[in-house]
Order: sequence, then C-alpha cells, then structure tokens
Amino acid sequence: MKVGSVELASPFAIAPMAGMTDTAFRRLVKRHGGCGLVVTEMVSAEGLVRGIDRTLEYAEYTEEERPISIQVFGGDPNTMAAAARIVEEMGADIVDVNMGCPVPKIAKHNAGCSLMREPAHAAGVIAAMTRSVKIPVTVKMRAGWNDGERNAPTLARMVEDAGAAAIAVHGRTAAQSYSGKADWELVSRIADDLTIPVFGSGDCVEPEQMVERLSAGVDGVLVGRGVLRNPWILAQAADMAADRPPRPVTLEDRGRFLLDYIDLLMTERVRDPHLRSESDSAELPLAKPGQRSHDRWVINKIRALGSWYTKGLEDGSHLRIAVNKAESLAELRDLIGAFFLALTPIS
Ligand SMILES: Cc1cc2nc3c(=O)[nH]c(=O)nc-3n(C[C@H](O)[C@H](O)[C@H](O)COP(=O)(O)O)c2cc1C
Repeated sequence: MKVGSVELASPFAIAPMAGMTDTAFRRLVKRHGGCGLVVTEMVSAEGLVRGIDRTLEYAEYTEEERPISIQVFGGDPNTMAAAARIVEEMGADIVDVNMGCPVPKIAKHNAGCSLMREPAHAAGVIAAMTRSVKIPVTVKMRAGWNDGERNAPTLARMVEDAGAAAIAVHGRTAAQSYSGKADWELVSRIADDLTIPVFGSGDCVEPEQMVERLSAGVDGVLVGRGVLRNPWILAQAADMAADRPPRPVTLEDRGRFLLDYIDLLMTERVRDPHLRSESDSAELPLAKPGQRSHDRWVINKIRALGSWYTKGLEDGSHLRIAVNKAESLAELRDLIGAFFLALTPIS
C-alpha cells in the first residue's frame, strides 16, 4: 500500500499515543515485524516552529523506524505549514495532522478535534501544508465532535480535496472520549467513498480483529492500546493475513521486551540536564536536587507502559502494584526477572 509516494510494507500501524509511543517503544515493536508505519506522539506545531527542545525531543526518531510519520497539532494554517516544513527538514517520511485529540488543553486552542468543528478552516490548514511540502500530509480525525456533529465523512472528502494523501479515522466522537465502541461501519463507509487510503482506529486488541477490519474494506488499521498490551499484535495480524498461525508469545518474550525497553530508554534523552541520572559522569550538569533524574524518568515510563502491559496477565495486578512501588531500576529489573523469567533477584 502507498501513502502518497511512501510505500508501506504492511497495512498495520502503531497509532500515535502521547506519552507512550516514544522512539524506543516504536523500535522494539517494529523489530518484531508486521508494522508498516509508526507515528510519533503528537508534537506541538508552535513548539516546533519556536524550536522548543522538549517538542523536538518528542519528534525524534531513528532510521530503523522508517517509514515514520510525525504527528503535529495546531490550528493556525501558517504555523502548521511552517511546522510541516520543519518535519520535512527533519527527514520524516510523512507529516500527520491531529484532528482527534479531545483534551480541552489542546481542543481549546483550535487544535485537535476542535478543528473538526470548522471544516472549511481545517481543510484550509491541510491545503496550506500540502502547498508547503513535498512529503505526504495525512490527517487523523475522530467520527466527529459529538453525536450531533458526526461529520467525518464530509471532512474526509474535504481534506482529500485539499491534498491529504491518506486519513485515519478513530470511530468515536470527541464527546465519547474512550467510552462506547468505535464505529467501524462509519470508517468503512468513508474508505468506500475516498480515493486515498483510509486507516481505521479503535478497539483492536486481538490480531484477528485487525484482519477482520481490513477485510471489511479499510486500507489499513492503526492499533493503539492493543499494542501497549501486546507489542506482537501487528506481527501476529500479519501472520494471520498471510494465512500463517499467529506467532506464540511466551512469558519470557514479554519479560525480555520490558528489559529491552529499559535498556533502550537508558540511551534516550541523555542530553537533557533535567533528566540526567545522578550516577552519570559526563560533562553535562547533574540534575538539580528536586529535579527528576533520568532513572526516575525511565521508571515512570515503565510504570506508564506497565498499566497497560499487565492487563489480562495472570497476577498482572500484583505486578502492576509492585512496579508502581519500585523505587530504582535495579528493583524494577528484579521484579520483571522474577515475574516473567523466573529469575531470583540479584540485588
Ligand atoms: C494514552 C493514549 C494517548 C494517545 N495519544 C494520541 C495522540 O497523541 N495523537 C492521536 O492522534 N491519537 C492519540 N490517541 C488515540 C489513539 O491513536 C487511537 O486512535 C485510540 O486510542 C483508539 O484506538 P485503540 O482502541 O486501538 O487504542 C491516544 C490514545 C491513548 C490511549
């Protein structure tokens, strides 16, 4: 499948998830196979244009993640066009626009899902971006703002006319947030109606659901929470789509994933003086007392993933509680070793 000029080896992709789909996580999922596209966490267009360090960090990626899409949020056409140029200069394959975020902090700035309430303006944002860059511009939207405004079918056509190369639709309204069920019937209808590829998003937690969605007419499937519970889900769906049995995942595989994630995170954000570990000895200034150390940042990342990752595991709630209590990386590694790999703690 192609998004503009970008060839995707698989129709299955990791959905953007703020705070979760960092470069380390994306790399690990990608290494297991079946993943055609990864999308960054949403990054502020304003922050990109102003060169804010933290924003640029959210947009970081590595070569092994290609093809990579950087998702931006914002509402001003000029700022969004400038942000698209920065994304292009950063070497990303695709720039994606967030028209789905329901969080008031984002929506009140005329960004995220509130763009869906002004379709002409939203289409204008996409037109300004497509005029400014050569890389494909894509859009991720919801079904609409609320039940009275389920305008994704209309807006989808408008952004296609404005030059979008693909769209993704999460079949819930902003008002629904994550309640109820994603409306895949609506998503399939939009896919039928448009010439550009349409990805569907919402509620796929088993690989067979992804394959079913695909055969119901969408061009691709974005998986969010399902990949946080099971990072092998894309590989398993690709197996099933190719008539192979889905690969088995052992408890040991699951433990190794977490340990590898810790190892990769330890190599991330090491230049950020606010996140440096007190045990680091490089020439950068140490984290000041009271500031979060790098270790603390990694622990928080594992806690965040742990709240999803432990769902559905036998004794998962015990592990989750223990992970949330762990005060050091050594403690965390021991917990993971004991739970998944039946290892005796060494510390
Ligand atoms: C923790 C979390 C963070 C998210 N962050 C973003 C985001 O930054 N940009 C975006 O377009 N969607 C975001 N989403 C929505 C997902 O991309 C996806 O559309 C939604 O979760 C439905 O799919 P799922 O049921 O497979 O999770 C987020 C979802 C979650 C759970």
